[in-house]
Amino acid sequence: MLATVLSCALVGIDAHPVQVEVDLAAGLPQTATVGLPDHVVRESKDRVRSALRNSGFDIPPRRITVNLAPAHLRKEGAAYDLPIALGILAATGHETRRGLADVIVAGELALDGSVRSIRGALSIATAARALGCTRLLVPQVNAAEAAVVSGIDVYGVASLRDAVDVLTSAATPASTPPPLPAFDTGDDDVDLSEVRGQELAKRALEIAAAGGHNALLIGPPGAGKTMLARRIVTILPPLELDDAVEVTKLHSAAGLLQDRPLVTTRPFRAPHHTISSAGLFGGGPWPRPGELALAHLGVLFLDELAAFRRDVLEGLRQPLEERRVLLARVGWRIAYPARVMLLAATNPCACGFRGDPTRVCRCTPHALAHYRARLSGPLLDRVDLHVDVAAVRYRELADTTAGERSAAVRVRVVAAREVQRQRFAGSATTCNAEMSGRELRRVAKPDVAGAAILERTMSRLGLSARAYTRVLKVARTIADLAGDADVGAAHVAEAVQYRSLDR
Ligand SMILES: Nc1ncnc2c1ncn2[C@@H]1O[C@H](COP(=O)(O)OP(=O)(O)O)[C@@H](O)[C@H]1O
Ligand SMILES: [Mg+2]
Repeated sequence: MLATVLSCALVGIDAHPVQVEVDLAAGLPQTATVGLPDHVVRESKDRVRSALRNSGFDIPPRRITVNLAPAHLRKEGAAYDLPIALGILAATGHETRRGLADVIVAGELALDGSVRSIRGALSIATAARALGCTRLLVPQVNAAEAAVVSGIDVYGVASLRDAVDVLTSAATPASTPPPLPAFDTGDDDVDLSEVRGQELAKRALEIAAAGGHNALLIGPPGAGKTMLARRIVTILPPLELDDAVEVTKLHSAAGLLQDRPLVTTRPFRAPHHTISSAGLFGGGPWPRPGELALAHLGVLFLDELAAFRRDVLEGLRQPLEERRVLLARVGWRIAYPARVMLLAATNPCACGFRGDPTRVCRCTPHALAHYRARLSGPLLDRVDLHVDVAAVRYRELADTTAGERSAAVRVRVVAAREVQRQRFAGSATTCNAEMSGRELRRVAKPDVAGAAILERTMSRLGLSARAYTRVLKVARTIADLAGDADVGAAHVAEAVQYRSLDR
C-alpha cells in the first residue's frame, strides 16, 4: 500500500514542500530511499526501523521504497525520519493514515523512538502557512520557534508515540502559541556607560549606529576598542517582529537557536581572525549561513583586522555592497540576506604605539607602510568612519561620575533612524550608509557654507574622491542626529575628522 506524508526541505532560509511517499510491496525486507537524498537521509532507514520497533510497532517483512519528491530538490539531514516512520505506519494500514491529510511533519528520530531537534522550524512553519496547511508536527524543542508563525496549529512531539497520538486522537487540543518574549533592549550587564572617557569614540559609535555606517576603530592595545565595539548593539534600534523572524530563520538554519524561540536582539558576531572563507560566508558540502549572514540586521565585528586573511577580507567586498551572500555550487545556488554593519578594530601599527603620547613606536617606516597596506585597500573603501581611540588617562579611568547610559544614546539613534525611514520610504535604501550616488546628491547636498568648508578641508587634507562621498554620507547622519534638514558647515567639519587613514 502507498502512503504520502508532507514534509519540507530547507533551501537557504526558505522551506520547500517535499512529499515523502512510502510504498510497501512483496519482496525481500529491504528499504530503498530515492529522490536525491544525502547520506544522512539514506541512513534514515536504520534509525526509522529501530525507532519503530522500540516504540512497539511491527514492521511487516516487505520491501519498502521511500521516494522524496520533487526529485530535483536536494534532501539533507535527518528531519525526514519522522515523516518516513509515519509513512511506513500509514502504508501498513495503521490508523495514522487518517490524520496525515493536512499536516506537515519534520523531526529526527533517535533509535529509542524519541524525537530530536531540527534546523529551520520557523522557515518550515512559514512555508506550511503559505501552503495552506493547518497543522504542523515538529520536535517538542522546536515547537515554540514554529509557533511564532500565527495561523497554524503547531504540535510539539517528544517521541514517535506522541506523533502517532496526535494523528490518531481527534480530541488533541491544538497547542496555543507561546506569548512572544518581550523584545530585549539589550544585555543590561553591558552598557556604554561602563566605558570611561572616550567621548569622541562614543560619539563616533553613535553616528555609526544612527546612519548604519561601517566603522574602523584605531588605537593602541588596551585603549578599549574591543570594549567599545561590544557595546554597539546596546545603542542600535531594537529589532521589529518581521526582522526578528528573518534573523531567527538564519540562526535556525545554522542550528544556533538552542532554546530561544525567537532572536529578539540584534546579532553581534565577532569571528576570530583565523576564520576561513567558508566560516565567514557559509557553505560547506551543504549550505549553512556563515558569520556574515548570521550578523544580518546586526553587527559583524572584525577585531584585530590586520590579522585576518587577505582573501577573506577581499571576499567581504561584494556581499557588503550587495547586502547578501551568494553561495553557488554544482547543482544549487542560494542567497542569504546579509544587511550588516561592519565594525572593525586595529592597532595603528605593528607594535601598537604609534601616536601614543606615553610610549615610543618602534616600527620602521617600511614596517609601517607594510602594516598600512594590509589595512587599506578594498575593504577600507567600504568604511565610512575611521575612529581614533586614544588610551584613556588614569584620571579618566579613576573618575567615578557615571557616563551616559546606552538607553539614552539609543533614543537619539532611533530618532535619527526615523528621519531616514521617512526619507527613503519607497526605496530599497533603509539608512544613510546605503544611499546610492543619486540619493546622495539629492539628500546630502551641503549648503553654501558646508560646501565651502568641504572644498577647503578636502584639498588641505588631501582627501581622495572616495573620501568625498563617505564624508557627505556621515555629514547627513550628523545632521539627522541634530534634527537639521540641511547639511551645514558644522556637520561637514565633524564628518571630515573621521577620515584619518585617508590623509
Ligand atoms: N575607557 C575605558 N573605561 C574602562 N575600562 C577600560 C577603558 N579602556 C580600557 N579599559 C579596560 O581595559 C581592558 C582592555 O580593553 P580592550 O577593550 O580589550 O582594549 P583594546 O581592544 O583596545 O586592546 C578592558 O577590558 C577594560 O577593563
Ligand atoms: Mg582588543
